Amino acid sequence: MDRRPDDMKRINTPELAKAFIDEQISELRAQIGDKKVLLALSGGVDSSVVAALLIKAVGQQLVCVHVNHGLLRKGEPEQVIKVFRDEMNANLIYVDAVDRFLDKLEGVSNPEQKRHIIGEEFIDVFADEARKLEGIEFLAQGTIWPDILESEAGIKAHHNAGGLPEDIASRFELVEPVKILFKDEVRVVGRELGLPANMVDRQPFPGPGLGVRCPGAITRDRLEAVRESDAILREEFANAGLEGKVWQYFTVVPDFKSTGVRDGKRSFDWPCIIRAINTTDVMEVTVEHLPADLIDRLVQRITTEVPGINRVLYDFTPKPPATVEYE
Ligand code: XMP
Repeated sequence: MDRRPDDMKRINTPELAKAFIDEQISELRAQIGDKKVLLALSGGVDSSVVAALLIKAVGQQLVCVHVNHGLLRKGEPEQVIKVFRDEMNANLIYVDAVDRFLDKLEGVSNPEQKRHIIGEEFIDVFADEARKLEGIEFLAQGTIWPDILESEAGIKAHHNAGGLPEDIASRFELVEPVKILFKDEVRVVGRELGLPANMVDRQPFPGPGLGVRCPGAITRDRLEAVRESDAILREEFANAGLEGKVWQYFTVVPDFKSTGVRDGKRSFDWPCIIRAINTTDVMEVTVEHLPADLIDRLVQRITTEVPGINRVLYDFTPKPPATVEYE
């Protein structure tokens, strides 16, 4: 099915999700036959659901490529490997491209240039892997219905094979099994496919990852401070029962230092900024007000557990005038 029918029922129950899954499995088997299909599996909701569907439909004929660009959150590459390779027995190629990305990004402080490098490098790494593989005829993608609507309305370019070099793009036929679904429906289907809750319900995460939360030129130590503080923030939000209740929350470590005192000695370290926001349409955003005891715990843990941080700040700015991300 190429387009979402106007009268299509919203998939919002396990029964409806199961019916969708059964139908997709037959369609995927009919389309793919005994051929192989390639998928860039980031571990985000859409690509994870596509992977789980294809594993059910064609098993080992699916080849997943997970590119670790070094800008993922703590534990993400490990979770992709655990869920897909260990538990679902997927054919998964893990590409450690951390040095390749961070070397290219070294000294680059312009936000647009950083995004551009991350996007281009991702395509290059994926294309390199695709060229190594023989006999693959299909390319699967986690395109969803809003992507198609937005690209038709000229709001954003549909992230399809368009980004791949011609010698790669022309080799494949596209497989887009969730393209008639809205995001909430993709989550219902993912749950029915048995994906872990923290994968299916995860908060939005930008394509350039933690790169946009390490403003200015990325250094490995400051990037690590972003990753560690983000992990603490997520853990504390989960402990406080806020997981799934606050739309998006993350940390930013800006490129300036201030004086502090640690163990009776002067320190000169970065601040860590916490941002926690709510929205329905991402055009306008309000700030979540955190309980005082949670703030105290976050300050305590981040300043003691994250090397290089001596202050914790809270961003109280809605959108507009600020945007959600810092770059
Ligand atoms: P801004 O900063 O534009 O963010 O107010 C709005 C929402 O979009 C997410 N975001 C991105 N998502 N690629 C993405 O897939 C990106 O480059 C990107 N930049 C921002 C951001 O996390 C927020 O949810």
